[in-house]
Amino acid sequence: MATTLTPILSEFWDEPESWTLRTYESHGGYQALRTALARKPEEIVDLVKASGLRGRGGAGFPAGLKWSFLPAPDGGPRYLVVNADESEPGTCKDIPLLMASPQTLLEGMVIACYAIRAERAFVYLRGEVVHVYRRLLRALEEARGAGYVGRNILGSGFDLEIVMHAGAGAYICGEETALLDSLEGRRGQPRLKPPFPAVAGLYSRPTVVNNVESIASVPSIVHNGPDWFQDMGTERSTGFGLFSLSGHVKRPGQYEAPLGITLRELLDMAGGLRDGNELKFWTPGGSSTPLFTAEHLDVPLDFESVAAAGSMLGTRALQIFDHTTCVVRAVLRWMEFYQHESCGKCTPCREGTYWMTQVLRSLEAGEGSPEDLDKLLDVCDNVLGRSFCPLGDGATSCVTSSLQYFRDEYLSHLTHGGCPFDPMESTLFAGASA
Ligand SMILES: Cc1cc2nc3c(=O)[nH]c(=O)nc-3n(C[C@H](O)[C@H](O)[C@H](O)COP(=O)(O)O)c2cc1C
Ligand code: SF4
Repeated sequence: MATTLTPILSEFWDEPESWTLRTYESHGGYQALRTALARKPEEIVDLVKASGLRGRGGAGFPAGLKWSFLPAPDGGPRYLVVNADESEPGTCKDIPLLMASPQTLLEGMVIACYAIRAERAFVYLRGEVVHVYRRLLRALEEARGAGYVGRNILGSGFDLEIVMHAGAGAYICGEETALLDSLEGRRGQPRLKPPFPAVAGLYSRPTVVNNVESIASVPSIVHNGPDWFQDMGTERSTGFGLFSLSGHVKRPGQYEAPLGITLRELLDMAGGLRDGNELKFWTPGGSSTPLFTAEHLDVPLDFESVAAAGSMLGTRALQIFDHTTCVVRAVLRWMEFYQHESCGKCTPCREGTYWMTQVLRSLEAGEGSPEDLDKLLDVCDNVLGRSFCPLGDGATSCVTSSLQYFRDEYLSHLTHGGCPFDPMESTLFAGASA
C-alpha cells in the first residue's frame, strides 16, 4: 500500500511558467524522445506493453496492447487521437495537466506516433476550455520551432504534424467513436463496434485513441524503463496516476500517487474533511462509478480492488461528500446531467435517463411513493447492459449504489414531505437510520 506521493507528471507544476518549453527542457524534457528515436518503433510498443501502463481515460485498457492492434502499415495514413474531452462530472486532471505542462503531452504524442508509425495526430479538446486551447497552440508552436514536431524530427527522418481540435462541448464526444465522428465533422454519436478504431477509426483508417494522461505518461516510461514503472502501483495496476480530490475536503486538488493508494491516505494528505465533518459518500472515479461510503476508506485505489468492492476506478475523480449532503439531491443533479448529455441514439438511455430524472425529482420533493424506489431500480435494469454505449450504464451507477447504501434517506423524503435534510445541522437528517 502506498503512503507517499509520486510527483512525476506534476513534478514542476508549481514552477513559474511551468508550461514553457524552456522549463520542460530544464527538467529533462524531450530526452525520452531522443531515446525513442534511437530505437525501432516496435521496441517502443514492446516497452510500453512491458510497463503494464493501462489507459487513464476510465476503462483501463492496456496502452501498449492497444497500439499493437494496429494492422501492419499499408502505405496509407494512420492516426493518433488524444482524448482531451474531459467532461465526466468530477474528472479534472487532464485540463490541469495541459495547462501546467503541455509539452509532456506533446513529447508523449511524438513518441507514440513514432511507435505506431503515424504521421498525423490530433488532440480533441473539450470546446469550452478556450484558455487550454490557446496554451496548446502556443506549446505546439514552441515544439515545432525546436524541431520536435514537423518534418525530419531531430534528424531522424520521422515526420509528424499535430492538429489541435476544439470540440463543441458534449460529454458523449469523450466516447472514443463519437469523438471520431465529431472530429470528422459529423454529429458526435457512438459507432457500432467492431470495427474498433485500431482497424477502422478516423476516416476509416487505423487509429489509436488514448487519454491525455495515458500519453503524457509515456515519456517517463521510455526514459526510466518499464521496471521503474512496474515498481509503482500494484501487480496488475502498475505505475502512478493523478487522483483528483474535490468537494468537501480541506485541500482539494491533484494528488499524484501510485495506484493502490487509499482514500484514507489521500484524505490525510488533503487535510481531511472540511470543518472536521464526517465522510458520507464519495465517487472513486467520477459520477459514472458506483458510490462508496466511509466503509470503503481503506479500499486500495487500483482497478482490481475497486472493482472487487463494487465500483470502478474510472478516472480517479474522488468527489467527496460530507454528512451535510442530501444524497437524493446529489443523485438528481447527476441524473439531470445524464439526461441532458444522452445523445438520444438508443431508446434505453434516452428514455431511461428522462424517466429517472422525473422520478428522482418527485422523490426529492417528497411527492413520490415508496414504490418509486423499485421503479427506479426497474428502469436501471432496462438501461444497464441494454444501452448502445457506456453512457447509459454509467447513468445507473449513482441510482443503484445510493439506493443500496441510503434507502432510508430516500424514504425519509416521503415521510417528511420534502427534503428532511438540514445542512446547518450537524446531525444526519430527521428520521433516518443511514
Ligand atoms: C460517455 C463517455 C465519455 C468519455 N469521456 C472520456 C474523456 O473525456 N476522456 C477520455 O480519455 N476518455 C473518455 N471516455 C473513454 C473513451 O471512450 C476511451 O476509452 C478512452 O479515450 C481511451 O483512452 P485510454 O485507453 O488511454 O484510457 C469516455 C467514455 C464514455 C462512454
Ligand atoms: S447509451 Fe445514451 S449516449 Fe450512448 S448511444 Fe445510447 S443514447 Fe447515446
